[in-house]
Amino acid sequence: MTRHLLDLADLDAAGVADIIRLCGTDTRPLDGSSVAMVFEKPSARTRNSTEMAVVDLGGHPVMITDAEVGIDRRETAEDVIRTLACYHRIVAARVNDHNVLERMRSTLDGARIGVGLVNLLSDHSHPCQAVADVLTLADEFGGIHALAGRTVTYVGDANNVTVSLSQAMLASGVNVRVAAPVGYQLTEAMVASIERFSSEGATLVQTDDPVAAAQGADALYTDVWVSMGQEADAEVRRLELADYTINEELVAVGAPGVIVLHCLPAHRGEEISHEVLEGPASRVWRQAAHRRTAMRGVLRWLMGED
Ligand code: CP
Ligand code: NVA
Repeated sequence: MTRHLLDLADLDAAGVADIIRLCGTDTRPLDGSSVAMVFEKPSARTRNSTEMAVVDLGGHPVMITDAEVGIDRRETAEDVIRTLACYHRIVAARVNDHNVLERMRSTLDGARIGVGLVNLLSDHSHPCQAVADVLTLADEFGGIHALAGRTVTYVGDANNVTVSLSQAMLASGVNVRVAAPVGYQLTEAMVASIERFSSEGATLVQTDDPVAAAQGADALYTDVWVSMGQEADAEVRRLELADYTINEELVAVGAPGVIVLHCLPAHRGEEISHEVLEGPASRVWRQAAHRRTAMRGVLRWLMGED
Protein backbone atom coordinates (compact mmCIF):
# COMPACT_ATOMS: atom_id res chain seq x y z
CA MET A 1 0.00 0.00 0.00
CA THR A 2 1.31 3.44 -0.90
CA ARG A 3 2.04 5.57 2.16
CA HIS A 4 0.51 8.96 2.86
CA LEU A 5 1.02 11.33 5.80
CA LEU A 6 -2.06 13.48 6.37
CA ASP A 7 -2.11 13.31 10.16
CA LEU A 8 0.10 11.56 12.71
CA ALA A 9 -3.05 9.98 14.17
CA ASP A 10 -3.16 7.80 11.04
CA LEU A 11 -0.04 6.06 12.43
CA ASP A 12 0.78 4.32 15.68
CA ALA A 13 3.67 5.28 17.97
CA ALA A 14 5.99 2.86 16.16
CA GLY A 15 5.18 4.56 12.85
CA VAL A 16 6.00 7.98 14.29
CA ALA A 17 9.25 6.55 15.68
CA ASP A 18 10.09 5.12 12.23
CA ILE A 19 9.80 8.58 10.66
CA ILE A 20 11.97 10.12 13.37
CA ARG A 21 14.62 7.42 12.97
CA LEU A 22 14.64 7.92 9.18
CA CYS A 23 15.55 11.59 9.73
CA GLY A 24 19.03 10.35 10.70
CA THR A 25 19.82 7.99 7.83
CA ASP A 26 21.61 8.91 4.60
CA THR A 27 19.62 7.19 1.83
CA ARG A 28 18.58 9.01 -1.35
CA PRO A 29 15.39 7.22 -2.39
CA LEU A 30 14.21 10.06 -4.65
CA ASP A 31 16.98 9.63 -7.23
CA GLY A 32 15.29 10.23 -10.60
CA SER A 33 11.91 11.14 -9.03
CA SER A 34 10.11 14.42 -8.58
CA VAL A 35 7.93 15.87 -5.81
CA ALA A 36 5.13 18.38 -6.43
CA MET A 37 4.63 20.97 -3.68
CA VAL A 38 1.25 22.72 -3.81
CA PHE A 39 0.65 25.74 -1.59
CA GLU A 40 -2.79 27.27 -1.03
CA LYS A 41 -1.31 29.45 1.75
CA PRO A 42 2.01 31.27 2.21
CA SER A 43 5.09 29.53 3.62
CA ALA A 44 8.74 30.28 4.36
CA ARG A 45 10.00 27.28 6.36
CA THR A 46 7.86 24.52 4.91
CA ARG A 47 8.42 25.46 1.30
CA ASN A 48 12.20 25.87 1.68
CA SER A 49 12.79 22.86 3.94
CA THR A 50 10.71 20.57 1.73
CA GLU A 51 12.35 21.76 -1.46
CA MET A 52 15.84 21.26 -0.04
CA ALA A 53 14.99 17.89 1.52
CA VAL A 54 13.82 16.66 -1.89
CA VAL A 55 17.17 17.77 -3.35
CA ASP A 56 19.01 16.10 -0.42
CA LEU A 57 17.30 12.82 -1.33
CA GLY A 58 18.23 13.08 -5.01
CA GLY A 59 14.85 14.27 -6.25
CA HIS A 60 13.52 17.23 -8.19
CA PRO A 61 11.01 19.56 -6.46
CA VAL A 62 8.34 21.43 -8.40
CA MET A 63 6.72 24.36 -6.62
CA ILE A 64 3.09 25.09 -7.52
CA THR A 65 1.01 27.93 -6.12
CA ASP A 66 -2.75 27.82 -5.80
CA ALA A 67 -2.92 30.66 -8.31
CA GLU A 68 -1.67 28.15 -10.89
CA VAL A 69 -3.85 25.10 -10.11
CA GLY A 70 -6.89 26.71 -8.41
CA ILE A 71 -8.03 23.75 -6.30
CA ASP A 72 -11.85 23.44 -6.58
CA ARG A 73 -12.02 26.62 -8.65
CA ARG A 74 -10.12 25.98 -11.87
CA GLU A 75 -10.66 22.23 -11.44
CA THR A 76 -11.57 19.83 -8.67
CA ALA A 77 -9.12 18.63 -6.05
CA GLU A 78 -9.61 15.14 -7.52
CA ASP A 79 -8.56 16.28 -11.00
CA VAL A 80 -5.61 18.27 -9.60
CA ILE A 81 -4.20 15.22 -7.78
CA ARG A 82 -4.77 12.88 -10.73
CA THR A 83 -2.93 15.34 -12.97
CA LEU A 84 0.01 15.78 -10.58
CA ALA A 85 0.19 11.99 -10.17
CA CYS A 86 0.99 11.74 -13.90
CA TYR A 87 4.36 13.41 -13.27
CA HIS A 88 5.40 13.06 -9.64
CA ARG A 89 6.22 10.26 -7.16
CA ILE A 90 5.01 12.34 -4.17
CA VAL A 91 2.59 15.25 -3.85
CA ALA A 92 3.05 17.56 -0.86
CA ALA A 93 0.26 20.05 -0.20
CA ARG A 94 -0.57 22.95 2.13
CA VAL A 95 -4.33 23.41 2.04
CA ASN A 96 -7.02 25.58 3.60
CA ASP A 97 -9.37 22.68 4.29
CA HIS A 98 -8.06 19.33 5.56
CA ASN A 99 -10.91 17.62 3.71
CA VAL A 100 -9.21 18.48 0.42
CA LEU A 101 -6.30 16.25 1.46
CA GLU A 102 -8.73 13.47 2.41
CA ARG A 103 -10.35 13.72 -1.03
CA MET A 104 -6.96 13.64 -2.74
CA ARG A 105 -5.95 10.54 -0.75
CA SER A 106 -9.23 8.80 -1.64
CA THR A 107 -8.67 9.60 -5.30
CA LEU A 108 -5.16 8.15 -5.28
CA ASP A 109 -6.11 5.02 -3.34
CA GLY A 110 -9.40 4.53 -5.23
CA ALA A 111 -7.56 4.54 -8.56
CA ARG A 112 -4.66 2.50 -7.08
CA ILE A 113 -2.17 5.19 -8.02
CA GLY A 114 1.20 4.63 -6.32
CA VAL A 115 1.84 8.26 -5.44
CA GLY A 116 2.36 9.40 -1.83
CA LEU A 117 0.55 12.43 -0.38
CA VAL A 118 1.86 14.51 2.52
CA ASN A 119 0.22 17.30 4.50
CA LEU A 120 2.36 20.46 4.59
CA LEU A 121 -0.21 22.11 6.97
CA SER A 122 -3.96 22.15 6.92
CA ASP A 123 -6.50 23.81 9.20
CA HIS A 124 -6.45 20.53 11.17
CA SER A 125 -2.80 19.54 11.56
CA HIS A 126 0.86 20.14 10.74
CA PRO A 127 2.61 16.77 11.07
CA CYS A 128 5.93 17.70 9.43
CA GLN A 129 6.39 20.53 11.94
CA ALA A 130 5.85 18.08 14.80
CA VAL A 131 8.60 15.77 13.54
CA ALA A 132 11.00 18.74 13.64
CA ASP A 133 9.79 19.57 17.15
CA VAL A 134 10.68 16.08 18.39
CA LEU A 135 14.14 16.35 16.78
CA THR A 136 14.72 19.70 18.49
CA LEU A 137 13.82 18.30 21.91
CA ALA A 138 15.95 15.22 21.27
CA ASP A 139 18.94 17.49 20.54
CA GLU A 140 18.44 19.28 23.80
CA PHE A 141 17.65 16.44 26.17
CA GLY A 142 20.06 13.68 25.19
CA GLY A 143 18.43 11.94 22.24
CA ILE A 144 15.07 10.56 21.27
CA HIS A 145 15.21 7.73 23.81
CA ALA A 146 15.80 10.21 26.64
CA LEU A 147 12.58 12.14 26.05
CA ALA A 148 10.11 9.89 27.88
CA GLY A 149 8.81 11.53 31.04
CA ARG A 150 9.65 15.10 29.96
CA THR A 151 6.92 17.75 29.86
CA VAL A 152 6.09 20.24 27.10
CA THR A 153 3.66 23.07 27.84
CA TYR A 154 1.84 24.69 24.93
CA VAL A 155 0.52 28.19 25.66
CA GLY A 156 -1.99 30.07 23.49
CA ASP A 157 -4.45 29.05 20.79
CA ALA A 158 -4.81 25.25 20.62
CA ASN A 159 -4.63 24.84 16.86
CA ASN A 160 -3.31 22.68 14.01
CA VAL A 161 0.25 22.92 15.35
CA THR A 162 -0.90 21.99 18.87
CA VAL A 163 -2.65 18.87 17.59
CA SER A 164 0.37 17.50 15.73
CA LEU A 165 2.81 18.57 18.45
CA SER A 166 0.74 16.80 21.12
CA GLN A 167 0.39 13.65 19.01
CA ALA A 168 4.16 13.50 18.38
CA MET A 169 4.95 14.19 22.03
CA LEU A 170 2.63 11.53 23.45
CA ALA A 171 3.95 9.08 20.84
CA SER A 172 7.45 9.84 22.20
CA GLY A 173 6.41 9.47 25.85
CA VAL A 174 6.45 13.24 26.52
CA ASN A 175 3.68 14.71 28.68
CA VAL A 176 1.76 17.66 27.22
CA ARG A 177 0.02 20.48 29.05
CA VAL A 178 -2.08 22.89 27.02
CA ALA A 179 -2.87 26.30 28.54
CA ALA A 180 -5.58 28.13 26.62
CA PRO A 181 -8.70 30.10 27.51
CA VAL A 182 -12.05 28.39 27.21
CA GLY A 183 -13.07 28.53 23.55
CA TYR A 184 -9.46 28.15 22.40
CA GLN A 185 -8.73 24.75 23.95
CA LEU A 186 -8.45 21.44 22.10
CA THR A 187 -11.84 20.03 21.13
CA GLU A 188 -12.93 16.54 22.16
CA ALA A 189 -12.13 15.21 18.68
CA MET A 190 -8.64 16.72 18.82
CA VAL A 191 -8.07 15.24 22.29
CA ALA A 192 -9.15 11.81 21.04
CA SER A 193 -6.70 12.01 18.12
CA ILE A 194 -3.90 12.83 20.58
CA GLU A 195 -4.81 10.33 23.28
CA ARG A 196 -4.58 7.45 20.83
CA PHE A 197 -0.86 7.69 21.69
CA SER A 198 -1.34 7.54 25.47
CA SER A 199 -0.24 3.89 25.45
CA GLU A 200 3.32 5.26 25.55
CA GLY A 201 2.66 6.34 29.17
CA ALA A 202 2.46 10.11 28.68
CA THR A 203 -0.56 12.28 29.44
CA LEU A 204 -2.34 15.31 27.97
CA VAL A 205 -3.90 17.88 30.32
CA GLN A 206 -5.66 21.15 29.54
CA THR A 207 -6.08 24.21 31.72
CA ASP A 208 -6.81 27.92 31.39
CA ASP A 209 -3.93 28.74 33.78
CA PRO A 210 -0.65 29.34 31.90
CA VAL A 211 1.45 29.75 35.07
CA ALA A 212 0.28 26.44 36.54
CA ALA A 213 0.87 24.74 33.18
CA ALA A 214 4.40 26.15 32.84
CA GLN A 215 5.44 25.12 36.37
CA GLY A 216 8.40 22.72 36.08
CA ALA A 217 7.97 22.22 32.32
CA ASP A 218 11.02 21.21 30.26
CA ALA A 219 9.85 23.16 27.21
CA LEU A 220 7.37 25.94 26.56
CA TYR A 221 5.83 26.14 23.08
CA THR A 222 3.59 28.64 21.38
CA ASP A 223 2.19 29.57 17.97
CA VAL A 224 0.38 32.55 16.50
CA TRP A 225 -2.96 33.66 17.95
CA VAL A 226 -4.31 34.26 14.44
CA SER A 227 -3.67 31.35 12.09
CA MET A 228 -3.83 31.68 8.33
CA GLY A 229 -7.50 31.89 7.38
CA GLN A 230 -8.59 33.41 10.73
CA GLU A 231 -7.73 37.01 9.85
CA ALA A 232 -11.36 38.18 10.07
CA ASP A 233 -11.37 37.32 13.81
CA ALA A 234 -7.94 38.80 14.52
CA GLU A 235 -9.10 41.58 16.83
CA VAL A 236 -11.21 39.42 19.13
CA ARG A 237 -8.60 36.64 19.19
CA ARG A 238 -5.91 39.12 20.29
CA LEU A 239 -8.17 40.34 23.10
CA GLU A 240 -9.18 36.89 24.31
CA LEU A 241 -5.66 35.42 24.16
CA ALA A 242 -3.93 38.46 25.67
CA ASP A 243 -3.01 36.63 28.91
CA TYR A 244 -1.37 33.74 27.06
CA THR A 245 2.03 35.17 26.15
CA ILE A 246 5.29 33.31 26.75
CA ASN A 247 7.25 36.00 28.58
CA GLU A 248 10.17 35.99 31.02
CA GLU A 249 7.85 35.51 34.02
CA LEU A 250 6.47 32.33 32.49
CA VAL A 251 9.92 31.02 31.54
CA ALA A 252 11.02 31.62 35.14
CA VAL A 253 8.57 29.01 36.49
CA GLY A 254 9.74 26.31 34.05
CA ALA A 255 12.20 23.58 35.04
CA PRO A 256 15.89 24.54 35.29
CA GLY A 257 17.16 24.55 31.70
CA VAL A 258 13.67 25.04 30.23
CA ILE A 259 13.72 25.76 26.50
CA VAL A 260 11.26 27.73 24.37
CA LEU A 261 9.95 26.59 21.00
CA HIS A 262 7.81 28.34 18.37
CA CYS A 263 7.00 26.91 14.94
CA LEU A 264 7.20 30.47 13.50
CA PRO A 265 6.24 32.92 12.09
CA ALA A 266 6.35 34.80 15.42
CA HIS A 267 4.51 37.92 16.49
CA ARG A 268 6.69 39.50 19.14
CA GLY A 269 4.56 41.09 21.85
CA GLU A 270 1.62 38.77 21.16
CA GLU A 271 2.12 35.04 21.78
CA ILE A 272 5.80 35.50 22.71
CA SER A 273 7.81 38.43 24.03
CA HIS A 274 10.79 39.78 22.12
CA GLU A 275 13.03 39.06 25.14
CA VAL A 276 12.10 35.38 25.25
CA LEU A 277 12.28 34.83 21.50
CA GLU A 278 15.78 36.31 21.41
CA GLY A 279 16.79 35.07 24.88
CA PRO A 280 18.94 32.17 26.09
CA ALA A 281 16.06 29.67 26.38
CA SER A 282 14.96 30.10 22.77
CA ARG A 283 15.67 27.22 20.38
CA VAL A 284 13.45 28.50 17.57
CA TRP A 285 16.15 28.73 14.90
CA ARG A 286 17.45 25.24 15.60
CA GLN A 287 13.82 24.13 15.40
CA ALA A 288 13.40 25.90 12.03
CA ALA A 289 16.60 24.26 10.75
CA HIS A 290 15.26 20.86 11.81
CA ARG A 291 12.33 21.26 9.40
CA ARG A 292 14.74 20.13 6.65
CA THR A 293 16.04 17.16 8.71
CA ALA A 294 12.44 16.24 9.48
CA MET A 295 11.34 16.39 5.85
CA ARG A 296 14.13 13.99 4.88
CA GLY A 297 12.69 11.46 7.33
CA VAL A 298 9.12 12.04 6.16
CA LEU A 299 10.08 11.63 2.49
CA ARG A 300 12.10 8.44 3.17
CA TRP A 301 9.12 7.01 5.05
CA LEU A 302 6.76 7.94 2.20
CA MET A 303 9.12 6.12 -0.17
CA GLY A 304 8.58 2.95 1.86
CA GLU A 305 11.70 2.91 4.03
CA ASP A 306 11.48 1.62 7.60
N1 CP B 1 6.32 26.70 10.70
C1 CP B 1 5.90 26.79 9.43
O1 CP B 1 5.22 25.90 8.90
O2 CP B 1 6.32 27.91 8.79
P1 CP B 1 5.84 28.38 7.33
O3 CP B 1 4.37 28.68 7.43
O4 CP B 1 6.68 29.56 7.00
O5 CP B 1 6.06 27.24 6.38
N1 NVA C 1 -1.16 27.86 13.18
C1 NVA C 1 -0.44 28.53 12.13
C2 NVA C 1 0.83 27.81 11.84
C3 NVA C 1 1.73 28.46 10.86
C4 NVA C 1 2.96 27.66 10.57
C5 NVA C 1 -1.29 28.66 10.90
O1 NVA C 1 -2.01 27.70 10.56
O2 NVA C 1 -1.27 29.71 10.26
